[in-house]
Order: sequence, then structure tokens, then C-alpha cells
Amino acid sequence: MQEERKSEQAISVRTPFVGGNWKSNGDPSKVETWMGHVNGMEDFPESVQVLVAPPAIFLERVLRDITPNVLVSAQNVSLHTGFGAYTGEMSADMLQGAGISWTLVGHSERRAGFGLEGESSNIVARKTVGALTSSLNVVLCVGESLEERNEEKTLEVVCGQLREVVSAINDLDGSTEDLWSHIVVAYEPVWAIGTGVTATAAQAQEVHEAIRHFFEEEVSSSVASSIRIIYGGSVKASNAQELISCPDIDGFLVGGASLKPEFADIIRTVAESQA
Ligand code: PGA
Repeated sequence: MQEERKSEQAISVRTPFVGGNWKSNGDPSKVETWMGHVNGMEDFPESVQVLVAPPAIFLERVLRDITPNVLVSAQNVSLHTGFGAYTGEMSADMLQGAGISWTLVGHSERRAGFGLEGESSNIVARKTVGALTSSLNVVLCVGESLEERNEEKTLEVVCGQLREVVSAINDLDGSTEDLWSHIVVAYEPVWAIGTGVTATAAQAQEVHEAIRHFFEEEVSSSVASSIRIIYGGSVKASNAQELISCPDIDGFLVGGASLKPEFADIIRTVAESQA
């Protein structure tokens, strides 16, 4: 396993977080190149938690060959925990067994479904709980469509997506507060993903602040102040500085730019924002 869950709890003062989502891209040679962008950083900042989410087929390779400074994450996890007759599925327990201790859950592309039935917020919440109870850490993605934003439903949609997770966690037995330290929330407006259109810093900050307020009201003050809320949607080296200077933006989930050398620049920009 890459890290002990205990050490994850210790990182509670909102250590900034930069994730790279490689999506369905890559071949062995490209994977080598993309790992090289972080492996080649002489000045890898200790003050930032960095993660990459390669396609499943490359997970073990990346775990083996990427600098130990970088966490390795699945892009998706099965609704079914354990092992068994679920052809094509990859469970949290399988990931754990392979040494992968993170997964993305609820990315908007999976919620949309690529021509299949997409994942509802209820499925996303159940996957999140399954992953957490199998000792994985989760990057939980939420975000509104352009239509929902235009109808001024952004906060309603985002809070609705989060509320499903809160209620699934609250349904677990015993004290559940600690589980939140194993979740990073990624706010990713769907209209900004892969489009080159980035939310303005003010638009992103407004939603991040509202998400923190949501946790204050619906979970606890301590979760509200400690949970990392990162922004995703056309993050590049050129806009990272302005976004990271917002008080409630704790880092990024980067798609397209995580396949470029500028991923290292984004990590450096986030580290410098701490100085
Ligand atoms: P993008 O993707 O940076 O290419 O917009 C972000 C994401 O999908 O996580």
C-alpha cells in the first residue's frame, strides 16, 4: 500500500492537492513520457499532495515506476466490493490488493455514461461508501451542466450530489466523521471540462465557499474547515495561479494539461502559493 490511512488523517490542515486525470489515454510509451513530467522534477514540493489517475491497465506500472512523491489512483471503482462474478469490474478490494489506495468517483463523464446509462448520484454515493469502507481514499467529483448553471441551479445541483454522499455515510454504523478525512471533493463544472473554458476565479470560489458552507451545515465545522475542495475544468499553467489564490480552492483536478510538461508547472504554482 502506498500510504497508511493514519498518515492521511494527519494531513488535515488542507495540504494542497493536485490530481492528474489521464482519462482513456495512453500507450506504454506515452505513459513513460507522462510519468517523466513528474519524475523529472528536481524540486518536487513536499508541501503539495500530488496524484495521477492513469487508465486501469497502466495502474500497476505507474505505481511501480512513478516517483513515490506521487499517489496513484484508479479513475473508477466498482459498486461491488469484494471479489466475485462481476465481469469487467474492478473492486476496491482488488485495488487495495494491488497497492492502489485512491480512486476517483463520480467524474462527470461517468455520470454522463458515454452512451450507456450514466451513474446517478445515488450510485456515486454508494461507490464512495464502498471505497471508503474498503480503506480507499476518494476524489469525489461534483459539478453542474451549462444548462443547470444558466437556470441558476448550480448550488442546488452540487449540494444535491454531495447530500447523497452525506446520507450514505450517515447510514453507516458508528462514528463516521473520520471517513471525511479520506475524501477530497473536486468541483468540476461540466461546461469547463475539456472545453478550454475555465470558470473564472470568482465563479469557482463562489461554489467552493458554498460547498464548505454545506459541510458546516450538514456535517460538522471540523469537516468543513479540513476537507480539501479542488477545482477541475480546463486548468492550465496559465490560469492556475489566479485560481489557487482563492481562499476555498485547495488545488486542482487536471485533465488535458496533466498529459503535458505543464503539469509540473501547475504543481509548482500550487506549491508557491503556500510560500
Ligand atoms: P480538463 O479535464 O482539465 O481537460 O478540462 C478535467 C477533468 O475532467 O478532470
